[in-house]
Order: sequence, then structure tokens, then C-alpha cells
Amino acid sequence: MLALEVSHINKTFRTKKGETVIANDDVTVKIEAGKIYGLLGPNGAGKSTLISMISGIMTPTSGSISVFGVDALTRTVEAKKMMGIVPQEIVTELAFTVDEILHYMGGMYGVPLAERKDRIGEVLRDLDLEDKRYERARSLSGGMKRRLMVAKALMHKPKFLILDEPTSGVDVALRQKIWELVRRMNKEGATILFTTHYLEEAEQLCDEMTFIHHGRVIKQGKLSDIQKEFSENVVAFELYKPNVPHLPGVHKEGTEFHYPVTHLDQDMSAVIKHYGENLRSIKSAAASLENIFLKLTAN
Ligand SMILES: Nc1ncnc2c1ncn2[C@@H]1O[C@H](COP(=O)(O)OP(=O)(O)OP(=O)(O)O)[C@@H](O)[C@H]1O
Ligand SMILES: [Mg+2]
Repeated sequence: MLALEVSHINKTFRTKKGETVIANDDVTVKIEAGKIYGLLGPNGAGKSTLISMISGIMTPTSGSISVFGVDALTRTVEAKKMMGIVPQEIVTELAFTVDEILHYMGGMYGVPLAERKDRIGEVLRDLDLEDKRYERARSLSGGMKRRLMVAKALMHKPKFLILDEPTSGVDVALRQKIWELVRRMNKEGATILFTTHYLEEAEQLCDEMTFIHHGRVIKQGKLSDIQKEFSENVVAFELYKPNVPHLPGVHKEGTEFHYPVTHLDQDMSAVIKHYGENLRSIKSAAASLENIFLKLTAN
């Protein structure tokens, strides 16, 4: 079952100067139900634009979007009820209290009045925001406002949670809290789509991912497959005495030496055999998501 099917989406904007900006160019993304999925790309790549279209805030220029089989462009209300959206920008009604805002959100998404009070307590507990329940949103710090944004999206227990940079500008403790929550919701059955510029987060959390750059999908798939494809394929080692005869193909990289790999086990032993007691350390190097990202978005 697909939680999300985005097919051949195009979105163009017209700027005030009359220029055309192509924010999404033939974007296709499929997310299996139950997955944690990352949407990655540099500033201006088109991630938030795509999320706005999935969440029914913007209309695509062309293409189709369905959420759990429901056409999100024509049956918007039905599709929206299945989703919880945490937008990138903090948008909230500053004059109201946290409790009032969450009551309103719950009401909008059909949480029965009798259940709303308890549900508000639950989400605030999950986000460590209980002591702010009766404070006005205006008086919250930036990180607390971000938590409130997450709380709003969780009120109706969505089966598809979309988070646009939920951890930008939040402290380490809250970041971990958010990811704990995301993992727990995922275990309980929710599908998750998120964007982040912290690639180590994506590395730890995602089952699969899509990279977009200049509005276009440039890579998608499982992290392990992408890593395999981009693997630097080297045995990296350090020596006590660097000025010795080297194996053919060895080159220096900072304080390390790199030896290209064809068969990891054999190449490791070739290095060990050749350098013997001169070896200070040895490891195999896999490509980090950060290096992959830089390579993919180099132009
Ligand atoms: N309402 C708008 N009107 C005109 N151009 C827009 C509008 N919204 C977005 N754009 C343009 O579309 C492109 C994609 O923007 P988008 O916000 O989707 O990027 P992003 O991948 O979310 O970037 P970031 O990582 O900085 O959040 C940018 O060039 C942006 O200037
Ligand atoms: Mg964005």
C-alpha cells in the first residue's frame, strides 16, 4: 500500500519581475506505508513547495498526488484528515494560549470534544510542553513554538506525518525528543516524510530517501543502496613512517593513505602484509551521506 504517490508534479511560480521559477520539475515520489522517508536537497531545491502541494496548501501546475489512494488534489479534505503537517515556518495564532490553539486544531480535524482535553495533555507531555499549556503562544521561545507546531500536527493522530525541517533551530535534547516521538509513531504504524539539512539525522532515521536539486529528482532509493553506489571503496590507513615504498595505487589523503578496493577482505590483508608493523591504524571507508550529498549537488 502506498501512503503517498506523487506523479510527474510540476510547479512554476511567476516572480514579481515576471520571471518564471521552476520549483518542481517532473517530480515523482512513491512512499510505502509504514516507512520513514527523507526528502533532501539544498536551500531552494523545491522541498517545501512539494510538501505544500501534498498538504493541499498549493496547487501543482500539473501532475497528480494521492495519499493512501485518495486523490489529494480533488478530495483535499479527505486527504488532509489523514495527514499531520509540521510546516517549515512557524505559523501560529500568537494571541491564543497553547490549550486554545490545540483545542481549535483538534476541532478542525474532528477530534471529539470529550477526547480533546486528554489528547492535549498527551501531546504536550510527549513534547515536554505541559507547563506551557495555559501560556499564550506569544510568550513561548522559538524552540517551544516549534514544539507547539509539532503538537498541532499530532492532535488527530495522523497516519501520515509530514515534517518540514522539524529540528532546525532546536536544542539537542528536543531534537532527540522529536526523533524519539517520530520513531514511536512510526512503530505504532504512522508513515513519516521529513526534510532536514542535518544529514546524520537522515542517515539514522530514513528507510528511503529522495534527493532533489533545482526542482528535479536526482537520486532516490534506499540509503544502503545509495551508499553502495557512492562508496569511496578504499582501505584507509595511517603509518608510523610514511616514507616507505607503497603498494601500487596508494595515494595520500591528509594524514591517511588510501588504497582502492576491489575485494575488501583481500585488500585489507594486502595492506596489512605490505606495511606490517608500520601500520598505526586501518579501516574501510564507506561514503557518508554528507559526501554523497555534496557530490550529487555539486553543480
Ligand atoms: N510563493 C512563491 N513565489 C515565488 N517563488 C517561490 C515561492 N515559493 C517558493 N518559491 C521558489 O521556489 C524554489 C523552491 O523553494 P522551496 O521553498 O520549495 O525550497 P526548499 O527546498 O524548501 O528550500 P529550503 O531548504 O531553503 O527550505 C525557490 O527558488 C523559491 O524561491
Ligand atoms: Mg523548505
